[in-house]
Amino acid sequence: MDKFIVEGGVALKGKVKISGSKNAALPIIAATILTGKDCLLKNIPHLNDTGVMTKLLKSLGGKVAFEKNSMRIGNKSINEFKAPYDLVKTMRASVYVMGALLGRFHKAEVAMPGGCIIGERPINLHLMGFEKLGAKITIEHGYIKAKAKKLKGADIYLDTVSVGATANLLMASVLAEGNTVLRNAAQEPHILDLCNFLNKLGAKIKGAGTNTIHIQGVSSLKGGTYEVISDYIEADTFMVAAAITNSSIIIENAPLADLEAVKLKLLETGTEIKENRKTILVKGRKTPKPSNIDTAPYPGFPTDMQAQWMALMAVSSGTSIVNETIWEKRFMHVPELNRMGANISTKGNTAIVKGVKGLSGAPVMVSDLRAGASLVLAGLKAKGTTEISRIYHLDRGYEKIENKLQALGARIKRIK
Ligand code: EPZ
Repeated sequence: MDKFIVEGGVALKGKVKISGSKNAALPIIAATILTGKDCLLKNIPHLNDTGVMTKLLKSLGGKVAFEKNSMRIGNKSINEFKAPYDLVKTMRASVYVMGALLGRFHKAEVAMPGGCIIGERPINLHLMGFEKLGAKITIEHGYIKAKAKKLKGADIYLDTVSVGATANLLMASVLAEGNTVLRNAAQEPHILDLCNFLNKLGAKIKGAGTNTIHIQGVSSLKGGTYEVISDYIEADTFMVAAAITNSSIIIENAPLADLEAVKLKLLETGTEIKENRKTILVKGRKTPKPSNIDTAPYPGFPTDMQAQWMALMAVSSGTSIVNETIWEKRFMHVPELNRMGANISTKGNTAIVKGVKGLSGAPVMVSDLRAGASLVLAGLKAKGTTEISRIYHLDRGYEKIENKLQALGARIKRIK
């Protein structure tokens, strides 16, 4: 298994270009199933997760060519309606094919995704919504089967704001007969991007980016070319990289409007941020000031930045409180950060982070994608060598992270 070796204490310098958004690319690739016409998707990041989504489409009979950052997809030939366990278990976002298959073919079978390291991750809201649209759901032998004679628009309220349920129900409803309303819908930039893509193919969706989305069913979708938005979590992560290493870096191709929550919190820590069209200049300070966060659905502070924020707070000049409100078990990075000299204690979903003067390199292990990013950031700050194992988690969601950091002057290398 590959590892990262990070020699910390080096200031970063230069420019970094943000890649396409993983969490937009995954549902958009799945959504191509809704049309038999060809689609060309641009700005798709090369990640393990986009690779798994490609395999999944191919296993359903789709044709996919993925070169550079463009993905050409032809789903005319889909003749299989089942997402097998060996793919679903490696990537939970495989469940997105369910809404798309159900939408176009009125049948889908997907292995039941299990829990994962950050929480139980139920999909009850996805299934409730499919039923409201007229599908019959059964669960047998570890597979969820959805079937409908036809789908009919419905008024659907989501008890919890869910990115996955919102995306899946959007896909299931665009070809349904009549109107659908999704209430308490997710407002994340990747949901808006999915809606923009579907509208480009001829869907009739209004209210995307708000918590009430209206979908007027259409009889079919056409093909088209679409460029996926850039990844706000990657941009946020690089902003924190500059802050934690007291460096000055320029972030290019950043989705500025989507960075507000993390940007405003960084300003509280004394980090300087200057924006100029699609570019941001971030300048850290010697010791960041403490700043509390509560994670929340967009436009709140993203749970996908909580671990990286904690690395920054670990070296702040005081005590900060981190409340994780989305996932029940998303503190796996805490013991690893403490191995590097951080002083963090947790009680339930609250972490108390007492800033320390410095971190020291240590062997650490990655438990999930964003925990991995947090350990890389801590390694960049720490004195000495940090050996980060299980970096395959990072390869799921950050395109060429070590190359981008090396170009900024970081001493990070991958060993096989
Ligand atoms: C998406 O996961 C992201 N994944 C996650 O990013 C992200 O942490 C999460 O949204 C929240 O922003 C992708 O986009 C591929 P949810 P998702 O449904 O859709 C509860 C990363 O690091 N819930 O919004 O699975 C659930 O338990 C990953 O890139 C139900 O109760 O998350 C959670 O508490 C990790 N029932 C909350 O809703 C349901 O049916 C939000 O989950 C569905 C969800």
